[in-house]
Amino acid sequence: MAKPVEPSAFLDACAMRQTATVPVWFMRQAGRSLPEYRSARGDASILEAVRDPALVTELTLQPVTRYSVDAAILFSDIMVPLAAMDSGVQIVAGRGPVIEQRVSGESDLGRLRDLEPEEDIPYVIDAIRLIRNELAPSGIPLIGFAGAPFTLASYLIEGGPSRDHARTKAFMFSEPSIWERLIDKLADIALAFLRAQILAGAQAVQLFDSWAGALSTEQYERYVFKASSKVLRGVAELGVPRIHFGVGTGELLEPMANAGADVIGVDWHVSLADVRKRVGRPIALQGNLDPSWCLAPGKQMEAEVLRILREGSATPGYIFNLGHGVLPETDPSTLARIVELVHAWNPR
Ligand code: CP3
Repeated sequence: MAKPVEPSAFLDACAMRQTATVPVWFMRQAGRSLPEYRSARGDASILEAVRDPALVTELTLQPVTRYSVDAAILFSDIMVPLAAMDSGVQIVAGRGPVIEQRVSGESDLGRLRDLEPEEDIPYVIDAIRLIRNELAPSGIPLIGFAGAPFTLASYLIEGGPSRDHARTKAFMFSEPSIWERLIDKLADIALAFLRAQILAGAQAVQLFDSWAGALSTEQYERYVFKASSKVLRGVAELGVPRIHFGVGTGELLEPMANAGADVIGVDWHVSLADVRKRVGRPIALQGNLDPSWCLAPGKQMEAEVLRILREGSATPGYIFNLGHGVLPETDPSTLARIVELVHAWNPR
């Protein structure tokens, strides 16, 4: 007899099926806002931590245990595949990814090669298998993820975090054919990273194009769409839901959906009702609470959660989340309260 499939409100919502409760999880639910995270991680850098499958399992499960969220997200980073092929890629605490040798021209493309998951990131595959084992009794699904080609390219070209991504955009404008080769290579890497995670057991994937909001619609369509589409369409045959997310991407929602997303991750700049109009076809939605609300707990914050729930559950296929990652200074009890409110809400 086939093993019964555990019901999952999160996976049902991704497929736009009506659910009895609205599923909820938080981007960056593992991490510095949790005291148990700080003590488990100790002094190891994040890139060291992700190479320890037992530690990754513990860090991934911590928020699931504490908050009773409806999905786990693998503890990893978008820079992991790039760090596996270039020892000059670091993540500096409080700052973000830093690249020793920036990509500034054609000769730098040679430093990027195809990702060989079994050799380059065996610890990610091992961690996913361990986590799936631990999650099996609860049926809570595991989300895998990758950085989208544009967001990865931005770190490689800027050499670190950037406010305006000007150097990246100037590169793309002035060297369109080198840009195309770079972003296509990054699409292959992101695709291999996601495929490996799904084959190891990830039951949904999220493509983080965190910084795509720096682009106009025309720029996104001309310079980025094809590469992101290659990643999302490349995992379609594996049959897991694909979430596509960016910050400040209100103007890009339609092409981001058309790149091959089953779920659109929405920040807080646009209302969920507007997103539905802009995308123009039924699609599952995730997100929308400004993470800053979590620093203002109380009745007004709760009213905002309820407002978003009302708007989100107007049609089936809504997953509650923040509009970006949990801020490190967030009090975990605030997130616990949000989960309680979301689960108490009747979406019908
Ligand atoms: O719980 C989860 O969400 C899973 C873990 C996760 C991390 N990074 C761990 C991490 C996820 C999903 C990411 C994705 C990621 N990494 C993105 C896309 C999501 C987004 O926030 O837009 C981006 C842009 C990165 C690159 C990156 N890595 C940044 C900007 C930073 C922050 C630097 C800082 O210290 O503020 C990191 C480091 C990082 N990745 C941390 C964690 C928990 C914090 C650093 C630490 O704990 O030492």
